[in-house]
Formats: sequence, C-alpha cells, structure tokens
Amino acid sequence: MPTKKLYIATFGCQMNVSDSERIVAMLAELGYTTTSHLREGDLLLFNTCTVRGGAEDKVHQHLANLRNLKKKRPGVLIGIAGCVAQQEGNRLLADYPWLDMVIGTHNLHLLQAMVRDAEAGHRRSETDFLDNSERQDLFPSIAGVNRSSAFVTVMQGCDNFCAYCIVPYVRGREISRRFADVMQEVRELPDQGVKEVVLLGQNVNSYGLKGEGEPPFHELLRAVAEVEGISRIRFMTSHPKDMSDQLIACYADLPKLCGALHLPAQSGSNRILAAMNRGYSRERYLETVYKLKAVRPSIKLTGDMIVGFPGETEVEFEDTLSLMETVNYLDLFSFIYSPRPGTKAAELADELPKQVKLERLDRLQKLQLQHSRAHNEAYVGTVQQVLVEGLAKREGQVTGRIDSGRIVNLAGTPELIGTLVAVKIVEGYANSLLGELL
Ligand code: SAH
Ligand code: SF4
Ligand code: F3S
Repeated sequence: MPTKKLYIATFGCQMNVSDSERIVAMLAELGYTTTSHLREGDLLLFNTCTVRGGAEDKVHQHLANLRNLKKKRPGVLIGIAGCVAQQEGNRLLADYPWLDMVIGTHNLHLLQAMVRDAEAGHRRSETDFLDNSERQDLFPSIAGVNRSSAFVTVMQGCDNFCAYCIVPYVRGREISRRFADVMQEVRELPDQGVKEVVLLGQNVNSYGLKGEGEPPFHELLRAVAEVEGISRIRFMTSHPKDMSDQLIACYADLPKLCGALHLPAQSGSNRILAAMNRGYSRERYLETVYKLKAVRPSIKLTGDMIVGFPGETEVEFEDTLSLMETVNYLDLFSFIYSPRPGTKAAELADELPKQVKLERLDRLQKLQLQHSRAHNEAYVGTVQQVLVEGLAKREGQVTGRIDSGRIVNLAGTPELIGTLVAVKIVEGYANSLLGELL
C-alpha cells in the first residue's frame, strides 16, 4: 500500500488535541502517515475552534486560502473537523466547493468511511449529535500512542450555558463515559510507557452527575489513583460550582494527584458572574480556593478570565484584579469578551469601547505577569520532581513538567524522556524554569 500523507492542524482546547490524536490513529489504519508540512499532505484536516470570533475567522481564512492549492493539486482532500465544523455543517460545503468533508464533534467514528467516500469523489457533512445510548462511539480509546503523559477523555459536552459561551451548542449535552471503559483505558497505559494521566472533559468534575449510573468524579479519581504504574494524575477543566468537598479531599489523600488545578473564575465581580450565569459567587469561589489551599498548601491554581463582558464597569473590572491578588494564580488565560452567535450574551448591548477593553486586558495581563514571575522565582533553589516529556527546543536540553505543571528545561539526553527525575531549579523565567539534573 503506497503511503499517503495526512497534514492535520489543531486549534482550540485539549479536547481538540485529544480528538486529533484519535484522528491520526484512525487514519493510520487507512495508510496515512502524518506530515508537518501542508504542501506534502494528500489529506489536509483542520480541527477547529469557535470559542471566540477570532478563532472562527481564522478557519474561514484558511479555507479560503486552500482554493488555489486545490486548483493546482485537484487530488488533495480537504476536511474540517471540530467546533466550526459542528457550528456550520453543510453550509461549509456550499461556501467552499473545494472542501470534501465536514466532520462534526460527535462524528469522528464516521471519519474512516468519510475519507473513503472522499477518495471516491463523494463530499459529506456529518454533524448529528449522539445521545447517551450511543456514547461508545464518542469515547473510543486511542490505541498505540507512545508517550509519557496521556489524555483520557472522561466526559464531553456542557449543560451550563454560560451566557457568553458557544461550547454547549457545538459540543452538545454532557455525556459521561462509562466508568469501566475509562478504567480499562487507564490500566492499559503504563504498558505503553505512560506515567501521567490527564483526565479530560469540558466540565470534567461534573462527571457522573447527570444520572447515568456512573460514580461521581472523586470516585473516578480515586480509582485511577489505584492503578499501578501511573505516577501522576491531572484533570481539566473543572467548573467551580462542581468542586465538591469530596473532590477537594482527594488533594489531601492522593499523593499521585498533582498539586495543580485549572479553575476558571471568568470574573471577580458578583454582578458579572450572575450575568454570565456561572452559578457561583466570588465568595463561593474563594471558599473553594481556601479549602484547597488548606488541604494542599503547595497547590497552584490557574484560571481563565474574560474582560469587557457587556456592561462591565471599571469597579467590576477592579474586582477581577482583586480576585487575582487574593488567589495568586500561577498562570491565567485572559480574553476580551467576544459575542458568539446564538448565546444569551450576544443579545446584550455591548457598548464598552474597544480601547477600554484592550486597556483592561493589558492591565490584567501585566498583573498576571508579576504573579507568574514571582511564582517562578520562588522555585529557584528548590528541588522538584520532573516528568521528562520530550526534547526541548534548545539542543542538548530536554523538557518536562513539575508537579504544578510548570515547564522545566534542563540539560539532558533523550534517554531521560519518560522518566521522573529530581531536578534543582536554577532560573525562573516568565513562563518556564531552568533546572539541573541532580
Ligand atoms: N469548559 C471550560 C472551558 C471553556 S472555553 C470552562 O468552563 O472553563 C475556554 C475559555 O474561553 C473559557 O474559560 C472562557 O474564559 C473563554 N471564553 C469562552 N467563551 C468566550 C467568549 N465568548 N468571549 C471570550 N472568551 C470566552
Ligand atoms: Fe462554556 Fe460555561 Fe460550559 Fe465552560 S461551563 S464550556 S464556559 S458554557
Ligand atoms: Fe474551542 Fe471547541 Fe474547545 S470551541 S475551546 S475547540 S470545545
């Protein structure tokens, strides 16, 4: 079988990264090997994100640019997957005649058939959502992936309908994967060299809450922690309203659970949080943070913030800054509010001048930079366990993560990849650390 080349570009969140891993594995079965050069690809796939307007615009630019390529090489197949595919569906086939496949977020199980059809000249768009009875198709395990840290998707979808967010519309309702299936996949990972498991879901800590006979998330975590050969466990993304006391207690009891938690607050203002439909107050959020720090004093939090939500006043924005001062995030992802079609917030008057939003984002990011730097400098002189994950960009260096998720680069050879090593931190930069093997 002559090898065909797959070029895949992935945008958006970890869920898309994980889906792309699955796509690569599925297409390997059809004889596709991957290339990182678009011009070498026989099949070009774009796994897309639409969480903000800018992300969606980028997809349309890419698609428009591919027209010439298809003219020059009519045999090239082009597909779009992920959240823009789900959002736009058939419309994309109509708007871009050079596009062959539109693969919705619940339709990856159809991918091989769709590629075969495309090879035979049939264009397809599949964007039906699956329901709970069909969920096996939503969560296949990805066989044969060899690395030290592996994503394991445990739930998909979102029922929260935050006023600004398009995710519930493009990922569908919350569906939890069967506990037994998750555990089977996790148990197979150590034999593939995997030491760290990252449990994934749009609202990972809402796992099992929608009454389908699965246990709650803290029980899943405890079961994963029992698996021999797994040394580290992380999970994301957690919704603050579902941080139960039992889940917090896991940070006291489970040494394998890394001292890191991504807990997006989105705003520090109670009025804005209510307008966003987040389901918690600033006080509730902080209570959770204090409880976490009480059971695991070394825990580092990361988060997401939105600035310029419709009607956000200067005082409300300053509430966000003061929340940041109190929490002291290791890292924070911050975004200017972007109206998304079909969401509640898109109907609100958005009168804040662009300039004000940009200026607020800049102030927030400058404050975060100070906090991140202070965290990084505090690591200098300490000894940390590092799971070495791969080669660093700089020659002669490898790269890995410490317990909090911070990246460390250190001089070392490829044999270190996949091992946990003790490292002395010698330098702290804005986003990473420099270490020396002990
Ligand atoms: N399920 C996760 C992640 C959702 S999307 C959660 O609930 O936190 C990732 C981040 O994008 C969100 O946390 C939010 O900060 C940001 N985001 C989502 N919609 C947005 C919008 N319309 N404008 C700006 N930022 C947005
Ligand atoms: Fe979006 Fe809110 Fe659901 Fe997160 S919890 S995916 S922000 S609707
Ligand atoms: Fe983007 Fe879809 Fe993830 S919209 S953030 S890729 S769930």
